[in-house]
Amino acid sequence: MRKKIVAGNWKMNLGYEEGVSLFSEIVNMVRDEKKGDQQAVICAPFIHLNSLVQLGNSIVAIGAQNCHQNESGAYTGEISAKMISSVGAEYVIVGHSERRQYFSEDNQLLAAKTVVALENGLTPIFCIGETLDERNNGSYFDVLKTQLEEGIFNVSTGQFSKLVIAYEPVWAIGTGLTATSEQAQEVHAFIRQQIAAKYDAAVAENTTILYGGSCNPKNAADLFAQPDIDGGLIGGASLKSRDFVDIVKTFNS
Ligand code: PGA
Repeated sequence: MRKKIVAGNWKMNLGYEEGVSLFSEIVNMVRDEKKGDQQAVICAPFIHLNSLVQLGNSIVAIGAQNCHQNESGAYTGEISAKMISSVGAEYVIVGHSERRQYFSEDNQLLAAKTVVALENGLTPIFCIGETLDERNNGSYFDVLKTQLEEGIFNVSTGQFSKLVIAYEPVWAIGTGLTATSEQAQEVHAFIRQQIAAKYDAAVAENTTILYGGSCNPKNAADLFAQPDIDGGLIGGASLKSRDFVDIVKTFNS
């Protein structure tokens, strides 16, 4: 049985006290209300990682939103996977569309980040997704296939089994335009087929594939009921404890 995960992505939001306060609320609610074995994760800005781990990573796991592609060295202002892992964080988002778009991160760079994250014991949440143009002109399967092939299909089977994929259509991120559950399921099934073709059916069956893009407490149930959708990567709604925990609770029944 593959792992069900609901991961929040706080993006560049929340000062120190605000982060501690929101995370404390989330931990308390998850502790009291979560019924299943789904994993809740919060991917926070770097300044929060250490304190959030101390506050409750046995209940809600902690992740970063990016890491550098090298182990260490003279890269002023950067944070390595090893440093993230050293505070007890377990996850790192790699290849979010905002990183691809605003920081020109391409598949080759993201492949290097994925490897360094895995080598340092982190679970990469590797994001792929097409733009609105790519959806409308019908090239989205090709785009997604290339993102998979160049981004993560170079790792060994053993390493692959440790990573998580997030399908986030760029046109659905922060726009309020969610993919329909049929559109998302179609792509998730396609991703699983690609994994089966590259690795094998068992690896594909065991890979957790999250949906992201305007996911909220109202649409999560429909999305997560799809056979190939194993949870969500949640942006805006993860900044509200009630909304985020309600999405986590989608897996309660
Ligand atoms: P959103 O963001 O839920 O605000 O659309 C999702 C994401 O960017 O991970």
